[in-house]
Amino acid sequence: MTELITNQDLDPARLREAFGIFPTGVVAVAAEVDGLLVGLAASSFTSVSLDPPLVSFSISRTSKTWPDLRRSRHLGVTVLADHQSAVCRQLAGAPEHRFVGVPVRISDDGAVTLDGGLARFECTIHAEVEAGDHVVVLLRLHAVDQSDTSSPLVFHRSGFGKLAV
Ligand SMILES: Cc1cc2nc3c(=O)[nH]c(=O)nc-3n(C[C@H](O)[C@H](O)[C@H](O)COP(=O)(O)O)c2cc1C
Repeated sequence: MTELITNQDLDPARLREAFGIFPTGVVAVAAEVDGLLVGLAASSFTSVSLDPPLVSFSISRTSKTWPDLRRSRHLGVTVLADHQSAVCRQLAGAPEHRFVGVPVRISDDGAVTLDGGLARFECTIHAEVEAGDHVVVLLRLHAVDQSDTSSPLVFHRSGFGKLAV
C-alpha cells in the first residue's frame, strides 16, 4: 500500500502560491450604497445550485467594503472579460477610485454591474458562512443577463491571462 505523504508546511505564503495554481475567472461584486458605488474584485466566485439558483464567493474578514456592500438590497455580480484586467486591478485598489471611468448599470434595487462584462447577475444574500479568515457568501440569483461575445478574464498565479482557444 502506498503511504500517504503529508506536507505540514501550510504557512499562508506557501498556501497562497499553491492556491494560485488553480485558474479561475474574476467577478466584480458591486452595489450602490448610500448614493456611492461600492464593490470589489473576487476570484473566489463559483456556481453552487440551479434550484434554487445560488452562486458563492468568499470575502476576507478584513474587508472594509463588505460591511457596506452587504447592506444593499441587491448585489450585482459581473463576470469580467479578458479586456478588463485594468478594471479588475482598479476594483481591488483604493476604494475611492474603484469606479472612476468604469461604465456601470445600476438596478432599481441597487445592484451595480459593469458594462463590457460577459454575464451579469442580480442577487440577494442567501447565507453567510464563517470560514476561517474568510466568510463564504451564498448569493441567490434574481436576474441573469449574458453577452458572452468575448473571452473571460483568467486569474492564474497572481497574474491575468486569456483562454487559449
Ligand atoms: C484578481 C483578484 C481577485 C480577488 N479575489 C478576492 C476574493 O475572492 N475575496 C476577497 O476577499 N478579496 C479578493 N480580492 C481582493 C479584493 O478585490 C479587495 O482588494 C480586498 O477585498 C480589499 O479591499 P476591501 O477592504 O475594500 O474589501 C481579489 C483581488 C484581485 C485583484
